[in-house]
Amino acid sequence: MIKLLNSCKFLVKTLVLVLFISSASAQIKEQGIIPQPYKVEKNNLVFAFSPATGIAVGDGIDVNNLSFFNQYFGSLSGYTLSVNNKSVIPSINLDIDSLAITAKEGYRLIVTQKKIKIIGHDEAGVFYGLQSLVQLLKPSNGKITVQGCTIKDRPRFAYRGMHLDVSRHFFDVETIKKWIDVLALYKINTFHWHLTDDQGWRIEIKKYPLLQSISAYRDETIIGHKRDSPHQFNGKRYGGYYTQDEVKAVVKYAIERHISIIPEIEMPGHALAALAAYPQLGCTGGPYKAATYWGIFDDVYCAGNDETFTFLQNVLDEVLPLFPSKYIHIGGDECPKTKWQTCPKCQKRIKDEHLKDEHQLQSYFIGRMEKYLNSKGRQIIGWDEILEGGLTPGATVMSWTGEEGGIAAAKQHHDAIMTPEKYVYLDYYQSLYAAEPIAGGGYTPLSKVYNYEPITKELSGDEATYIKGVQANAWSEYMTSPAQAERQLFPRMLALAEVGWSAKENKDYDGFLKRLRYQHPMLQRLNINAANTFDEITGDIDTKANHQTSLSLNTTLPGGKIFYTTDGSAPGLKSKLYSKLLTITSSGNIKAALFSNGKQTGRTYMQSFNMHKAVGKTVTLVNQPKGTYNTGDISGLVNGVFGNKLYNDGQWYGFNGEDLDAVVDLRSVQKVSQLGINILKYHWQKMWEPSLLTFEVSEDGKTYTEVYRQTEFTANGINAVRANIKPLQARYIRVKGANKGVIPPGEYIAGAKAWLLVDEIVIK
Ligand code: ACM
Ligand code: ZN
Repeated sequence: MIKLLNSCKFLVKTLVLVLFISSASAQIKEQGIIPQPYKVEKNNLVFAFSPATGIAVGDGIDVNNLSFFNQYFGSLSGYTLSVNNKSVIPSINLDIDSLAITAKEGYRLIVTQKKIKIIGHDEAGVFYGLQSLVQLLKPSNGKITVQGCTIKDRPRFAYRGMHLDVSRHFFDVETIKKWIDVLALYKINTFHWHLTDDQGWRIEIKKYPLLQSISAYRDETIIGHKRDSPHQFNGKRYGGYYTQDEVKAVVKYAIERHISIIPEIEMPGHALAALAAYPQLGCTGGPYKAATYWGIFDDVYCAGNDETFTFLQNVLDEVLPLFPSKYIHIGGDECPKTKWQTCPKCQKRIKDEHLKDEHQLQSYFIGRMEKYLNSKGRQIIGWDEILEGGLTPGATVMSWTGEEGGIAAAKQHHDAIMTPEKYVYLDYYQSLYAAEPIAGGGYTPLSKVYNYEPITKELSGDEATYIKGVQANAWSEYMTSPAQAERQLFPRMLALAEVGWSAKENKDYDGFLKRLRYQHPMLQRLNINAANTFDEITGDIDTKANHQTSLSLNTTLPGGKIFYTTDGSAPGLKSKLYSKLLTITSSGNIKAALFSNGKQTGRTYMQSFNMHKAVGKTVTLVNQPKGTYNTGDISGLVNGVFGNKLYNDGQWYGFNGEDLDAVVDLRSVQKVSQLGINILKYHWQKMWEPSLLTFEVSEDGKTYTEVYRQTEFTANGINAVRANIKPLQARYIRVKGANKGVIPPGEYIAGAKAWLLVDEIVIK
């Protein structure tokens, strides 16, 4: 049985939060539009639709703008509305007035008892007014009504994007069209279509038929997660591609919904599928095969071979007529330089072009393709690695590894689009529950996506104008079906929509959730398999206060009550009602369940605690953890909580190429008989065991004696080192882990710096 101490801090925090939320969300109650419009004023009138309701579409507006509205309205009402029917007096008017409405894509929507008026700055504005109207339709007792209101709306960012990888898994044209409808419904105006990658080439190029017969297919697909070892495969050929006619149809469909499609033809890396068909374009000449598992591959396009450029230009010659977008995405990310380093052609190119190194060769590659695309009147977008070796003029940077790429681009007065993986990668987990279906890796819950702010404080007012917008990315390694993809993308895509559209001052997570709950039936009607786990219990673990580990349990469900147990039993209405922060003083499992109106809703929460002598003590580090594995608070190394095997719970500390050198101060000399640490070993994730792990002990913090060493760590995953030693007296425990250093040849991402991931230092 776990022991707890109570504290009232949490209650005070909750009270402050409740007061804040109730004032901020008062004005948007019940309107239910996502993304939150710029200004909403409700009135007490109600507009009621009937079969006699007519729509008049003003000059310059294509009636196609109404297609989604009509289709959705018909599915709710069972009848259609007449459009531009001279014998019907219209009660809905759509018009463009670019003087009255000044913002591009902006609109005004006015609903009274007798009339609905939508005035747009442009056709897109009218269209977005209709998308807001769709979201306000209220079906009840066979009638459709809309609450009276005046909405003045305009976007915050010009670029509001959603990406989809169709290489790792392929989604057919009908699915893509269905999703385009939903993107438009939420005012996302750009669809970034990731069409080529190592695992499959997905667009028909008539000049290169082998791209269809060879590159579009892979022999089989990995089963389970890439970090598993050894990899398991399903033995089933997989693939597909879009014909040019299909692409044309999708682009037309998107244009009618005011969505620009940006195709991505990836280069110079992520090229294995193309090389499988045309091996002469790789540095070694192959043979190559389309990849059957996920990751980064050393074989890329040869930058020294002119035929590579001819091939890519010919490909683009067929791609450009299909996509009228101003931008063409040419990838540029994750291009290993290993093959270029030993390729005579690539080395000759470096010499002939007076380049410094392979990074400049990458820049040469991108620059050469950019020139070609510029000559065809197009601009390039590339992932932030195109900053390597210098940014080519006119390039737009898509900042994914972090926000630094976007910031650097903006400071150089280049346009940038923010899409940092830490916040807006929708292939990452949205929940830390063990029952969550397999996903990409990190942790981007709905709230994190929602609270992402694309304009970082590093940017001055002028520099900030180069941040053109924001995009969420959907890599499909673990999105094996449309239903699975929808569970990953929705509702987080709606949060992204609000980041891109809504004014910063109008953002309010609690208000968003209210509107989201109001919209859930609509997503269901649209047959979207949206995840509904966002209100489930989350736990916050904190060790800083009073040198003790505490757990607060939270839910965003209004009126939700949390009941919990500490003895391992299933929580129910007769269990303890959670009211305040729990201070953990002994080992065990806390299980908690959320109840609404007397019934459990959602899954049962579970957190294990493992108490020992180091919990809440002081730990110091010589080298600081890096990147994702630096939470800014190292007390998690001694908090009694073991990091999970998905390493996405904020408990793991990662050292990139550097050693672990930690000292725990027990604050008094104590008897010590066991020393331990958890080490993560996933070579497929660049996470390597230390080449040497040692424990040293000291009474005075000056003279240390080594008491344990280990060099073998056999498990793929968590290696829980627990060294039972002859009991001794010690106050200071020093743990050293020698980083593997550079990943050895023949291993995944050979030549890169190894990560050493550790969590709990256990002392008993
Ligand atoms: C990326 O996620 N490799 C752009
Ligand atoms: Zn080469």
